[in-house]
Amino acid sequence: MQSNNTNNFQAISVDHAKVLSPKRNSTKADSTQALVNEQLAHFGIDEQSDYGRALAQTAHHLYGAQSSVMQLWDITSNTLQSLDKEDRVAYFNAKKFLSFQIAKILDTLQNPFRATYQSLSSGNGSQGHYPLFDNVTALFSATPVVVRTATYVYACTEWVDDAFQGKEFTHQIYSRLLNPTNISLANAIVDMEAGPYASEYLAWNFNSGMAAIDAMLSNVLSHGDVLIVSRNVYGGVYQLLHDYFARSNRMDIQIAWFDGYDKESFADFMAQTKQQYAERLNKGASMHVYMESPCNPHGYVLDVPGISELAHAEGALVMLDSTLATPVLHQPLQHKNTAARPDYVVHSYTKDLCGSGATTAGVVIGQGHRMFQPKGSSVDGVDWSQTMFWDVYYIKGAFLDSEKAFDVLNGMKTLEQRMMTKVINTEVFTAFLSSHPLIRVNCHALPEHSNAGLREKQHAHGWPCTLSVSYTHLTLPTSDLV
Ligand SMILES: Cc1ncc(COP(=O)(O)O)c(C=O)c1O
Repeated sequence: MQSNNTNNFQAISVDHAKVLSPKRNSTKADSTQALVNEQLAHFGIDEQSDYGRALAQTAHHLYGAQSSVMQLWDITSNTLQSLDKEDRVAYFNAKKFLSFQIAKILDTLQNPFRATYQSLSSGNGSQGHYPLFDNVTALFSATPVVVRTATYVYACTEWVDDAFQGKEFTHQIYSRLLNPTNISLANAIVDMEAGPYASEYLAWNFNSGMAAIDAMLSNVLSHGDVLIVSRNVYGGVYQLLHDYFARSNRMDIQIAWFDGYDKESFADFMAQTKQQYAERLNKGASMHVYMESPCNPHGYVLDVPGISELAHAEGALVMLDSTLATPVLHQPLQHKNTAARPDYVVHSYTKDLCGSGATTAGVVIGQGHRMFQPKGSSVDGVDWSQTMFWDVYYIKGAFLDSEKAFDVLNGMKTLEQRMMTKVINTEVFTAFLSSHPLIRVNCHALPEHSNAGLREKQHAHGWPCTLSVSYTHLTLPTSDLV
């Protein structure tokens, strides 16, 4: 452990502390004491009473704790990369224990809080149960809690106002917009997909893969834009593009179907597409790229980093449906070169990620500033109102509810083992079938297949896509088929 302990505690920073105040936005306090006094006055508590003194002392410690935790956050951000593994584990455990201590304080507070609540009952059974008390111990459940609620308990008007502005994540307002189980799933898929770059990304979950794709296209495309789409996409995506986005009385999107897989053919195709739609593009339309790799149903792999780099050089955004790969076969957001990463990765959880076959769900993952910003902010030329949250998610309501989010989270625990089994089955099955002289197997698992090179280069361990076996020229006598 590094040692730099001078036992000098830093003074409480009022700026850091005031986020805990019920008057966090309107406060004039310039010291912790002033924050404490304001808090007591806000709730009409006499500061000279025993109750007032104990409350003031508690509040004082909490403001101090908030300020100290912010210091921990600063130190963590500045030092984490330079720490060795042993120190990271020690720092992690120390913060985990702090969480238990803070929860213990909350649990201790439940006793006077509950007693006061019970004292308010008129005894006629109409007051009902107050769930906050029971939820505290659920904080340490080893699996995410299924939060089945439509609404939430509100702290005070200034906190709720912040929540409506997207400035207070802890304070959820309504489960069509945010829900703790859903957020837990969003964090889990970002960790899995982006790995060491997870802090750069955010995800929004939807009620199906198609709802996720619709939201992503709705957020990225404007009326009359040009969209390059890899030819082999899931049939539902074809319908969505053809029957809605491309219709002139809807979004009038000009779709250019790209037949190739490698970056060389993409470079040629993009140049042709630019030429074909030059007039439209010169008048202000944008060109973007949508691809599926591996594609459903053939399983062909596209050169995602190569295509992304070329598209980005032209200012296009890149959307990738990575459903068939799952983060086990392909991690497109972990490329060291950010230009080689797609801007959005979409998954239908309905397939391997969830694996139960009992849930339809989907997700879009993108860079944080494209997915969400608090109202009023702007990052890298993207204004808060253009982020996927405010532009689409918040207003359309295709939210994934907590039960289904939990089902996906549960399924994801066994994803790696399930994918490995499928990969082995694909390898064995294709090798076995292709050894027969009358069967031609069309699968990139075979080393001689034209797509085997890209599969080898791009997929983890060169593993094949598991939904990719198709047979041609099946001229076997039926007596040979078992
Ligand atoms: C590659 C791919 N993307 C998207 C989807 C749509 O997902 P969902 O069925 O969850 O709407 C599917 C569904 O089969 C798919 O195979």
